[in-house]
Amino acid sequence: MTDQIPSKSNSVQPSQLRCIGCDRVFERATQNFRCARCGDLLEIVYPDRNTSDATRLDAAKLKDLWRQRRTSGLPVDESGVWRFRELLPSFDEHDVITLREGNTPLYEMPNCARVAGLPQLYAKHQGMNPTGSFKDTGMTVASSVARREGFRWVSCASTGNTSASMAAYAARGGMRSLVLIPEGKVSWGKLSQALDYGAVTCQLKTDFDGCMRVLNEVVQRMPVYLLNSVNPYRLEGQKTAAIELMEQLDWQPPEHIIVPGGNLGNSSALGKAFIEMRQLGLISRLPKISIIQAAGANPLVRTIRENGGRELVSVHAETAASAIRIGNPASWKKAVRVLQATGGTVEEVSEVEIALAKAEIGADGIGCEPASAVTLAGLKKLVKQGFVKPGESVILILTGHLLKDPEFTLKFHRGDLFAGAVSEKEVSILRPQQRAPIVLDATVDAVVQTLKAADDQLEL
Ligand code: F0G
Repeated sequence: MTDQIPSKSNSVQPSQLRCIGCDRVFERATQNFRCARCGDLLEIVYPDRNTSDATRLDAAKLKDLWRQRRTSGLPVDESGVWRFRELLPSFDEHDVITLREGNTPLYEMPNCARVAGLPQLYAKHQGMNPTGSFKDTGMTVASSVARREGFRWVSCASTGNTSASMAAYAARGGMRSLVLIPEGKVSWGKLSQALDYGAVTCQLKTDFDGCMRVLNEVVQRMPVYLLNSVNPYRLEGQKTAAIELMEQLDWQPPEHIIVPGGNLGNSSALGKAFIEMRQLGLISRLPKISIIQAAGANPLVRTIRENGGRELVSVHAETAASAIRIGNPASWKKAVRVLQATGGTVEEVSEVEIALAKAEIGADGIGCEPASAVTLAGLKKLVKQGFVKPGESVILILTGHLLKDPEFTLKFHRGDLFAGAVSEKEVSILRPQQRAPIVLDATVDAVVQTLKAADDQLEL
């Protein structure tokens, strides 16, 4: 059945880099992944796709081939990214650096559905990737490109997850890695990962946007390969979360996908995937992709609301959801196009709303890091506004694992997350979710009494 699409990865179609501003096409990227003519971002395109009968990809055969690969023991087939390699840049399978990323679960979320006012709700948990965030799906592709191009050093500016992922893939691929992170604003879970995987880790006395500015200069001067999401190979890998999701839903698109927005690479990647899947006939329509930001780090929300997406409104970002503490997002234009193409919307959520939503996701036995919880917080608002209707299917994209930021969770449950910064009235809605650890004498009676008291409370 599948002999027309050989499973060798070098049989897939050639790709090019195209500027999203002036459409100029390049065979190779510059060090900063900007268009040499107009300075805009680049995207990967596949010029031969669909141009003749010989090169046209057959949707039914692709679905069949991808399903068959699930029983293969080949590293590239075990990867939930490379299993879909017909939609990725061409690679010899021996050049691929993989940690068997992707393959993430789609969970039903009954508690979250109830609090959002929907009969049903699902979450695709990208935090179940090898280093605990969605970054791995893009990093396997872009780090493989770096090694194939002969780079000894790779680098990124990061709020923590990109650096953890990059450091892991660099180590697996025998490359060195340079990390620039904002001092004091990266959770310890993420920082410790970068250290363990051997990155040279620089804590700069600035924010993420400042780290990005410095790194852009560094890569012009030194032969280091940039692995931030301006690197379009990252987004190609991140596309596969959407393809895998469609496979999990038997190729029936949901009405809505809700995704957090930081540097806006992920929403751009998911949008690109859905648009390509529709072009190839893998799906028949696009879901609405909506992007949620923290109110204190809301440049996209302001850009849409204040000028309809024509010009970026940068902000000074401040939020305890440190992964998305970004005021000057690189991929804003790509994200605006995704919103326009899919009919999605933007929303912002407060710090209290994020904290509450995170606990509600935890109460479904799933858990995630704060930045991921903006999805549920935003969904609640979209339901209230009528943008999401009760009968419609919704998928939340959870981007990072609960254990990435245990300090946030502990502070939440101990009741000192906001330490006077938010009014008592606002914080009171969090109380029913808070479960501070209880210090007791080491006696059976003390434990039994505590158990009884907790049980009584449940029955109230
Ligand atoms: N969720 C998590 C857990 C993240 O780590 C990030 C971004 C986002 C959401 C936002 O995704 O930037 O593609 O819009 N983290 C980056 C980092 C910036 O350095 O780890 P985005």
